[in-house]
Amino acid sequence: MKSDGSNNKKRSFWLDQIERSVNLRWIINWLGLSTGFLYGELDDRLDLRSALQKILKKPVPKHVNFWFCFGGFTFLLFLTNIITGILLLMYYRPTIDQAYDSIVHITNNVPFGWLVRGFHHWAANIMVITVLIHMIRIYFHGAYKHPRDMNWVIGITLLLLIMAFGFTGYLLPWNQVSFWATTIGAEIPSTFPVLGKYFTYLLKGGDSVGQLALTRFFAFHVVILPWITVGLLAMHFLMVRRLGISGPL
Ligand code: HEM
Repeated sequence: MKSDGSNNKKRSFWLDQIERSVNLRWIINWLGLSTGFLYGELDDRLDLRSALQKILKKPVPKHVNFWFCFGGFTFLLFLTNIITGILLLMYYRPTIDQAYDSIVHITNNVPFGWLVRGFHHWAANIMVITVLIHMIRIYFHGAYKHPRDMNWVIGITLLLLIMAFGFTGYLLPWNQVSFWATTIGAEIPSTFPVLGKYFTYLLKGGDSVGQLALTRFFAFHVVILPWITVGLLAMHFLMVRRLGISGPL
């Protein structure tokens, strides 16, 4: 049996969390009410409902099954990471003196910080699995062939972007593992002929991984890669919509 002390500690921890979440619930309620109100007002003027119905009311072909959902699952995980990433940005500090401490602060002190960080971490990892299943589905259905070949190429770029997100995000906590993994990872391009060593230098911003590398990885992780991904996703979805989903086997 656990001692009274640890039970009290546990209870006060949960009470503390609930107490903090009251504010959160208030904020969510308020957002719900105000968007509901806004939606009605906007719909009155812009006729959003029928515009949305045109986009969303499209019958799903009979042959579409569970395996066709993995692109959507990947997108859902990407959205999760955009939202949790923005929340992490409220507390993360991208400097070599403060990055590690800010991550510890998020995990231990910020309300639900551990949860937000956990979601960001797991969504990023599970996304790699769902995107691979998505690719396997497309391969076995032959959906990579003309006229969807360009969408396969966009898909490969999206896969590379997901890996780039993983690589740049790994450095951000600025702990021993991230430092050494990046030191090794950033050396890989230097083995490519002619331009390789310049690319490595560009990534690290010098001879070793330091503040410039952290700044650059941060810029790639939170600004450059997300916007490129959003642009390519828009093209990916537009092509799915215009070409229609591939036919039955
Ligand atoms: C961020 C990553 C990705 C997201 C969010 C995404 C999302 C989607 C979605 C929602 C669809 C609709 C049909 C379905 O889900 O099966 C789709 C279709 C497609 N995706 Fe992706 N995708 C991603 C990466 C990839 C990759 C890595 C490839 C291949 C290299 C790829 C190639 C395709 C192709 C060829 C189609 C058309 C399939 C058809 O018409 O049956 N996608 N994608």
